[in-house]
Amino acid sequence: MCGIVGYVGYREACPILLKGLKRLEYRGYDSAGVAVINKDGNLNVYKCKGKVSSLEEFLDGKDYSGNIGIAHTRWATHGEPSDRNAHPHYSQSGQIALIHNGIIENFRVLKDALIQNGYQFKSSTDSEVLVNLIEYIRKENDCCLSEAVRLALKQAVGAYAIAVIEKGNPDQIIAARQSSPMVIGIGEGEYFLSSDAASIIDYTNDFAYLNDGEIAIINKNKPLEIKTLENETSNLDIRHLELSISQLEKGGYPHFMLKEIHEQPNTIIDCIRGRINPDTAEVKLSGVELNKDKFLQAGRIIFVACGTSWHASLIGEHLIENLCRIPVEVEYASEFRYRNPIIRSNDVVIAVSQSGETADTLAAVELARKAGAFVYGICNAVGSSIARATDSGTYIHVGPEIGVASTKAFTGQVTVMAMIALAIAKEKGTISTERRQAIAKSLLELPQTIKKVLETDKMVADLSKIFTYAHNFIYLGRGYNYPTALEGALKLKEISYIHAEGYPAAEMKHGPIALIDAEMPTVVIAVPDHTYEKTVSNMEEIKARGGKIIAVIAQGDSHARKSADYTIEIPTTDECLMPVIVSIPLQLMAYYIAVYKGRNVDQPRNLAKSVTVE
Ligand code: AGP
Ligand code: GLU
Repeated sequence: MCGIVGYVGYREACPILLKGLKRLEYRGYDSAGVAVINKDGNLNVYKCKGKVSSLEEFLDGKDYSGNIGIAHTRWATHGEPSDRNAHPHYSQSGQIALIHNGIIENFRVLKDALIQNGYQFKSSTDSEVLVNLIEYIRKENDCCLSEAVRLALKQAVGAYAIAVIEKGNPDQIIAARQSSPMVIGIGEGEYFLSSDAASIIDYTNDFAYLNDGEIAIINKNKPLEIKTLENETSNLDIRHLELSISQLEKGGYPHFMLKEIHEQPNTIIDCIRGRINPDTAEVKLSGVELNKDKFLQAGRIIFVACGTSWHASLIGEHLIENLCRIPVEVEYASEFRYRNPIIRSNDVVIAVSQSGETADTLAAVELARKAGAFVYGICNAVGSSIARATDSGTYIHVGPEIGVASTKAFTGQVTVMAMIALAIAKEKGTISTERRQAIAKSLLELPQTIKKVLETDKMVADLSKIFTYAHNFIYLGRGYNYPTALEGALKLKEISYIHAEGYPAAEMKHGPIALIDAEMPTVVIAVPDHTYEKTVSNMEEIKARGGKIIAVIAQGDSHARKSADYTIEIPTTDECLMPVIVSIPLQLMAYYIAVYKGRNVDQPRNLAKSVTVE
């Protein structure tokens, strides 16, 4: 969940570490710290509660010099956010410092054994156990640091990305991973370490990705060495990444979230680039083409995902069932993995994840693969764990998403799902060529349509001001836009902390209608589709009970306008792509309400961007 950065080379480590941490701060942000070894060989650890900016203040006037260091932003799992629980953790003797991302599940057993051996603990974290275990093993076995790390990790159960440095060893960082991301940036006579390549992209484009159960022995001026927990040498998995720095900065917007909302015309262009032929309106997805038989023979498609990606998957269900006539199920990855699900060899499991690192989704992928299913990934982060663990897949290519509330990834996911559905439908012959081409044409026009919907920005901002008083919201939609209603509600609750629920509009009368009063606004999605008239009737039912309605409707729809108190009027596209368009004013509304309430939009409380713990 947290961010890890490391450096060993010839430059001053601390500025590189702090810059990297700032780029990663969106992933977890309750405390931060650095450990550096200075020219005299002293191992200095500085850490404190709060953001990276607090750490910078804390460092003021201290000796943070040195050409080697490791740094961390924490998202607490064990022990409250505090100076004491912040990482790095020193070993008892002060010789070793460690940072850890993840959870050591058997930390109590390990801790008790270490206490028996005379160790005392300064923090409540699970992580401190590892650093003392490494030290204990190093002394007991009189072995080198990397061997001690290997032996310690063989005893650890759980998820981790760790980095370790040792006093008296100023040229070496040991890093390891299990179910938590870790990459090593390779420079000339220097190495960079991070839980996300984006944080160190200023220095190199060449990255070695660690796999689960691997340990990296990173020595300045020596080739990178990777071995497994079984002490076997591993091959280097080096990839060249092209990321632009501008993608990682706010570009004049006050928040990443607003920037990412406004980026959507361009991110959709990137998402469909080279995948739809503008002359023939034919979709070409290599992942589907190369695995045509799997999709053609699929008895069922199962989506596994969490949060926003789960909402996008619900839209994927409509798209694939409607266009390809293949039965689809959509599962919360966290439930799927523990439910002993029935998985058949002719099932296609599609894992959807922006970060590609979500622990529950990754575990669902592993389960599905073990059960013999063909597993396809829809990810954003290139080279991420889920992208690598799946048999094949399609990247959404919307660029790094920094705001904790997912926006451009959602629209990218739905766009990719529409392209997948069209590619399969073509092979299966389940819809006419005309229909296929009409949808593909609408996809090609999506960036323009999104540009138009973004023109509602100012109007949505004004409207949002009216609703900052609300404590509860209901979002209603049907068909393709029922998941959009769920997503609208999730956006609002995540960043404004207003309670919000999404419902299928017709389900309203089976209970939630009891909540309707003048205090609780209802957002109704009433765009033209086959349930439009029924949704307008639902609006009347709400009005009759004194409820306030904000309706998202098609531009110029005077009929629906009459049933609403406020309207957001948007351009339309093919019914099956409407969620992409409808979601945008809902993203804006959540954003502005949160801003008016003074919330930290990009880093809302209690959340983290990449949920690498269960
Ligand atoms: C979205 O706004 C959320 N912060 C969250 O629900 C997120 O979508 C979920 O954690 C899944 O993440 P992933 O797409 O990276 O797997
Ligand atoms: N479990 C560790 C802790 O609570 C690491 C948390 C993290 O991934 O930031 O300190």
